[in-house]
Amino acid sequence: MTATNWRPIGQQDTQNGKSGKMNLQSVYQNKKVFVTGHTGFKGSWLITWLHSMGAHVKGYALAPQDENDLYNSINGDSLCQSMIADIRDKEGLKKELLSFAPDFVFHLAAQPLVRYSYEAPIETFDVNVMGTAHLLDAIRFLEKPCVVVIITTDKVYHNKEEDYFYKEDDKLGGYDPYSASKAAAEIVIDSYRSSFFNPKEYNKHQKSISSARAGNVIGGGDWARDRIVPDVIRALLKGETITVRNPSAVRPWEHVLEPLHGYLVLAACQANEPVKYASGYNFGPRMNETLSVGGLVKEALAVWGEGKFETPLQNGAPHEANLLQLDITKAEIELGWTPSFTVHEAIRYTVEWYKQFHGQKDTAYNLMMNDIKKIHP
Ligand SMILES: NC(=O)c1ccc[n+]([C@@H]2O[C@H](COP(=O)([O-])OP(=O)(O)OC[C@H]3O[C@@H](n4cnc5c(N)ncnc54)[C@H](O)[C@@H]3O)[C@@H](O)[C@H]2O)c1
Repeated sequence: MTATNWRPIGQQDTQNGKSGKMNLQSVYQNKKVFVTGHTGFKGSWLITWLHSMGAHVKGYALAPQDENDLYNSINGDSLCQSMIADIRDKEGLKKELLSFAPDFVFHLAAQPLVRYSYEAPIETFDVNVMGTAHLLDAIRFLEKPCVVVIITTDKVYHNKEEDYFYKEDDKLGGYDPYSASKAAAEIVIDSYRSSFFNPKEYNKHQKSISSARAGNVIGGGDWARDRIVPDVIRALLKGETITVRNPSAVRPWEHVLEPLHGYLVLAACQANEPVKYASGYNFGPRMNETLSVGGLVKEALAVWGEGKFETPLQNGAPHEANLLQLDITKAEIELGWTPSFTVHEAIRYTVEWYKQFHGQKDTAYNLMMNDIKKIHP
């Protein structure tokens, strides 16, 4: 597939950190985009952005868990054709994908929580590994060119707990079931790419498969349990003291729009040169911009204007990585993608979003569009 009015995303577009800002609309307008996990946090932001660019979006995911979820707040059903179904239903997924015949696929559906993965390891492996296999298998039967981006995570790397920035060809691994399931998904992706979508035989199958590994995202509208920003906001809204586990753990925080921008730029590059970009890419903050959990909470409270936190001893708590940093050089050099916001801006935009929403200053949809315009005017 080649976008007719395509200009390579290159240095001229990245001068001000807004890579591909004019090109994205021309790539996605009137294209058919299949998004799994569209009812989730990142999925809701992605379908909003795609819809605003004139894409025809079909979503495939479980129903939103709560009536106050972001997807319901933005009336997600008005932004896409929504299919509520399980990624583990191999035949159902195949039928929905093939009948839609997408130009692009973004696979976000997953069990995404580390702590829950200790409670439900089999479900986590089933959804994250077999779900990915089901999707790739269905794509084998799609008789048209298609660009596919599979969303895994920064946690796919074997974590050395050292001051080290993980690169795309580093060893995969995973201590907890979530990380292991996503590392396993990477192996499934690599196997399908070698066996069925081999770049050397692109003309035969016409599929370009990549994977995207992003860090911990923050942004307005996330209400997931066991995630630091939703936990902070929930406590602030109830006037409670915030409990912070692992205050010294360092994470590559980034605004949710940063990796989404990366996924859209990556898929656009694949549409233009399907063979060249069919591989894995890290999307994280600038390499001097990692911050501890405690640091993030302090900044969030400063933006909110009040609030207290405590850091209880965590005897017997399940293992979570303490130090995780990503090397984003490959995405910067090959895709011309670069982070648009500093970590401090990401925290400010996120907390402001919740403040405005809670104060009923604006709708969730308008608040999201305001943030999207900051990255893609
Ligand atoms: N949020 C983060 O910080 C972060 C960081 C790195 C990677 N990721 C990855 O990004 C993706 C989206 O994460 P999110 O934060 O939006 O999570 P989320 O929990 O908000 O959304 C998950 C989505 O997957 C869907 N889903 C879950 N199980 C399913 C099943 N069995 N069948 C069909 N759909 C199912 C849900 O319905 C929902 O739409 C995931 O793949 C996650 O692993 C997230």
